[in-house]
Amino acid sequence: MSIQIPRGTQDILPGQVEKWQLIEKKARELCEKYQYHEIRTPIFEHTELFQRSVGDTTDIVQKEMYTFTDRGDRSITLRPEGTASTVRAYVEKKMFGNATQPVKLYYMGPMFRYERPQAGRFRQFVQFGVEALGSSDPAIDAEVISLAMSLYQELGLKKLKLVINSLGDKESRNAHREALIGHFQPRIGEFCSDCQSRLEKNPMRILDCKQDRNHELMQSAPSIIDYLNDESRSYFEKVQKYLTALDVEFEIDPNLVRGLDYYNHTAFEIMSNAEGFGAITTLCGGGRYNGLVEELGGPETPGIGFAMSIERCLAALEAEKVELPLSESIDCYLVSLGEEAKDYTVTLLHQLRKAGFSSERDYLDRKIKTQFKAADRHQAKFVAVLGDDELKANKINLKNMATGEQTEVDLPSFIETLSGFCK
Ligand code: HAM
Repeated sequence: MSIQIPRGTQDILPGQVEKWQLIEKKARELCEKYQYHEIRTPIFEHTELFQRSVGDTTDIVQKEMYTFTDRGDRSITLRPEGTASTVRAYVEKKMFGNATQPVKLYYMGPMFRYERPQAGRFRQFVQFGVEALGSSDPAIDAEVISLAMSLYQELGLKKLKLVINSLGDKESRNAHREALIGHFQPRIGEFCSDCQSRLEKNPMRILDCKQDRNHELMQSAPSIIDYLNDESRSYFEKVQKYLTALDVEFEIDPNLVRGLDYYNHTAFEIMSNAEGFGAITTLCGGGRYNGLVEELGGPETPGIGFAMSIERCLAALEAEKVELPLSESIDCYLVSLGEEAKDYTVTLLHQLRKAGFSSERDYLDRKIKTQFKAADRHQAKFVAVLGDDELKANKINLKNMATGEQTEVDLPSFIETLSGFCK
């Protein structure tokens, strides 16, 4: 039996990969405009990093990590997300001492979660994410959110919904925590064993339990927004004010808690409400994590960021039937007739490429008609035809495929002439 691809992973083939490249390019361009700089961290880290940051009562850490013991007997985990590694690197490389503050970083790369594969949910997926470290100005919360929205909008998505919430500071969280314990404790026996063990350790996690989602106590659970102290409330109001100033529309969802433990204050998700997008509607998630740098051994430093997967972005584009502006055409295809001409196209092709033209020739000894078909398949803008006779006369025939116009060109000035036509 032949070996098949592992469940929840994908091969991205030519024809499809161009869409990925376009999204990645747009994301990089946007980061350049917003002044976020790329960071590349390892694909695997010490398991403890994710236990300490994402949190050991979360589904990600408890159920979804690809964890193994390496040959040196260390517990290693394939990264399930990018924030933990970014903050680890920030602390380890002492970026808090950088002259330029806040430190604004972005990453793009594969993440791994052992989840049940379905539409929009993979075991290996590519996240694009940004993290801004070192500022607790609510304007940066608005900047981060607007960067994410801008990317989707520039790609042509329209059916987007931004939901925001505040998870408050430590004091607000503690007050909410007590209220949650009081709410769930009397009937905790009706919940799954995970929720039962979360009650004391981290009752907020009960709110995003997939299994007990429809329990009646979920709907009536105390909402964090009612427990925000004055400082947290005022911070949240400023974020909203700045979002409005940036023309970013949003809804407040007091039940938005996010599935990772490091969040406080601002939490947000961007959803697609395109018809046919499927059951999982979240395109992007993020928020503020003011205690994380300290938790990972650095100085007290605020932080905020988001991550989105390219897979879900592509699914949303498909659901909204957005055609990405992909250019699949090449500049020039060389057609040859005769042995000497064929040999000559080897050098000519090299010269074309050196001069910056995307170009191709035949490698299968095909007849002239089939070579023309190949040129069509490459959507060549120009086809240059060289026969042994032309070669002897030091000429080449250049055809503009858009207009059908043909020109006989002196071979030595071929590239120059083509450059002129392409201008
Ligand atoms: P997250 O909500 O776990 O947050 O994931 C962020 C995004 O990654 C999701 O909105 C979705 O686009 C994508 N994603 C997650 N799991 C999968 C999957 N199995 N298949 C396809 N796409 C997936 C984080 O990861 C945080 N680190 C975000 C963040 C950055 N917060 C602050 N900074």
